[in-house]
Amino acid sequence: MADLKSNRHLVNASLMILAVILAIVYNIHFKEAPKESAQIKEAPKEAAQAFDIDQFIAPDTCGACHPDIYAQWENSMHHFSHKDRIYKAVSDFFRSGLSDPDELKEAESCVKCHTPVGYVTGYPTKSSDDREKIPELAQMGIQCDYCHSATTAHKIYNNDLQLEPGNGEEDPGVKRGPFKDSESFYHEVAYSEFHTNAEICGTCHDVKHVVFETDLETTYTEWKNGPYNSDDPEKRITCQGCHMYQRPDVPATGSTERPANPGYAAEGGPEREHIFTHYFVGANVYLPKLNGDLEKSRMAMSRLQHSAALAIDKSHLDQHELIIEVKNIGAGHYLPTGLTDVRQMWLEIEVNDKNGNTVFTSGVRDKDQYLPDDAIIYNTVFGDGKGNPVRNIAQAREILKDKRVPPGESLVETLVLPQKDLTGGQIRVSLMYRSASQKLLDEITGKGTHPLPIVTMAEATVEI
Ligand code: HEC
Ligand code: HEC
Ligand code: HEC
Ligand code: HEC
Ligand code: HEC
Repeated sequence: MADLKSNRHLVNASLMILAVILAIVYNIHFKEAPKESAQIKEAPKEAAQAFDIDQFIAPDTCGACHPDIYAQWENSMHHFSHKDRIYKAVSDFFRSGLSDPDELKEAESCVKCHTPVGYVTGYPTKSSDDREKIPELAQMGIQCDYCHSATTAHKIYNNDLQLEPGNGEEDPGVKRGPFKDSESFYHEVAYSEFHTNAEICGTCHDVKHVVFETDLETTYTEWKNGPYNSDDPEKRITCQGCHMYQRPDVPATGSTERPANPGYAAEGGPEREHIFTHYFVGANVYLPKLNGDLEKSRMAMSRLQHSAALAIDKSHLDQHELIIEVKNIGAGHYLPTGLTDVRQMWLEIEVNDKNGNTVFTSGVRDKDQYLPDDAIIYNTVFGDGKGNPVRNIAQAREILKDKRVPPGESLVETLVLPQKDLTGGQIRVSLMYRSASQKLLDEITGKGTHPLPIVTMAEATVEI
């Protein structure tokens, strides 16, 4: 057995060496490396130059025949993934002052997901590349032709999408999607099972440090290990099953209905039972608002408001213990998810005696909107490898804290209240969310920054 195994390693190793030699020979003899081999290689330089920017078609061209989908995508965070001012500020902030080459490597890697069309067409390849020189098309972030040219991903993290784009507007190539009977006189179409599953999302929504391999974002893995990734088709809900069913007044979460959205995928196309929406709303309430899109801001708010449930257990109050249960009822992943070292979800607690005097508080913001140190916060804290917390993901060598609520599950908090008679009083608990701590935002963009909107995700009140 052991022999067989080491033989296999030998064979694999020889094959790899052969492949490397072939690739070198190929590269010397042909000006352009073949797309397939260029993509599979790990080296970012080769992958970055795999395509020509003119091969990709601008979203508004797609929008001419897919107007509804275009309008939904237009104000989405996918469109703004490159232009997002918070992302740009954080990216610059994280890069400044670094000297460790491994840390710099991570700090330079952001464009792979945030400016993906630029990355695969050769510019930018690094976060520090001059933003002025980035082609306009690449600035449009995660766009139609990028996702619909994808065929598969070999690893479900750090954006490993394999692409087969066409050759621009004159020769648009194949657009891949969920229909088996689609016809378009403009572009070729193909059914793609890959597009109907969570992996197409997961390849970007799981982020690992490029050198230390610390898990920086794990939305896909959280979903994969959770109850929504069920073999039972009745219970199975993919990312698309929530996020591409949402539309105004239909939050489409784990705790709400997710009715189909019948209609037309294209002008002149047939009527369909369900058209997957392209709003891609998460929890970002403030950026759509800054962009003047109040509807999308409301949609993010409504998503958050259907995510969690709170319960107050009074049974141990005689021992001055307050027990609070926080349940994730609506999200297909942990609560919160994504950039959880930056996001803030916390409990705001107030206990009043029978005269209305406040005898206990937790998680109440000060005048600068900062939280007290002892607030109960659901988040992730990264460390430098020696147990000291770091804020910069480029320096994240370990995870010091990861306290969040898994899908369908609860976390229980027990608080000790002051030894006072609380009879006739009241306990009020709220679960709050904002996209970043105000402290971090102030540090990055300067104090006096407009306070971030705060959403009350759930509330509970009991009389004592
Ligand atoms: C982040 C990747 C992504 C982006 C960006 C994106 N799409 Fe899609 N699109 C998908 C996925 C995934 C599906 C299929 C979902 C499923 O089957 O579960 C889809 C479905 C579709 C469909 C089939 C009809 C439907 O909606 O069900 C069309 C047409 C389409 N997209 C066009 C577009 C256009 C036009 C744009 C740009 C305005 C765009 N897409 C942007 C991922 C994307
Ligand atoms: C000239 C009109 C036109 C333009 C421009 C156009 N499409 Fe389409 N597309 C259609 C029609 C018509 C359909 C068929 C709709 C159906 O089957 O319901 C379609 C279907 C699709 C599908 C579904 C494929 C499937 O098998 O599920 C995708 C994905 C898609 N288009 C993406 C795009 C993208 C991306 C662009 C821009 C690069 C684009 N389209 C530009 C007309 C167009
Ligand atoms: C090419 C990489 C990539 C792919 C593929 C991708 N995403 Fe994203 N997604 C991102 C990035 C980057 C952002 C954040 C942009 C920002 O906020 O600056 C984002 C943002 C989002 C948000 C908004 C988060 C918020 O806080 O409001 C949602 C929801 C989302 N994606 C869902 C999906 C789903 C569902 C799919 C699969 C159909 C998908 N994404 C595929 C990279 C990707
Ligand atoms: C059962 C419904 C459901 C499923 C399935 C689901 N989500 Fe979500 N998602 C939510 C809800 C509700 C929220 C808002 C609460 C929150 O922020 O977690 C959310 C929020 C998000 C956010 C924003 C997080 C933040 O705080 O910035 C992203 C990004 C996201 N989802 C991506 C995904 C991806 C990728 C998948 C698949 C791997 C997925 N979701 C599966 C319901 C779902
Ligand atoms: C593998 C893909 C990937 C890479 C690489 C990546 N990100 Fe992201 N980024 C995402 C996804 C997915 C989201 C959305 C998650 C969420 O909303 O919580 C996101 C969201 C963000 C946001 C939140 C934006 C907002 O408006 O709230 C910031 C800031 C950010 N990323 C910074 C960075 C920086 C800085 C780097 C490089 C050091 C980087 N990202 C590298 C995938 C990536």
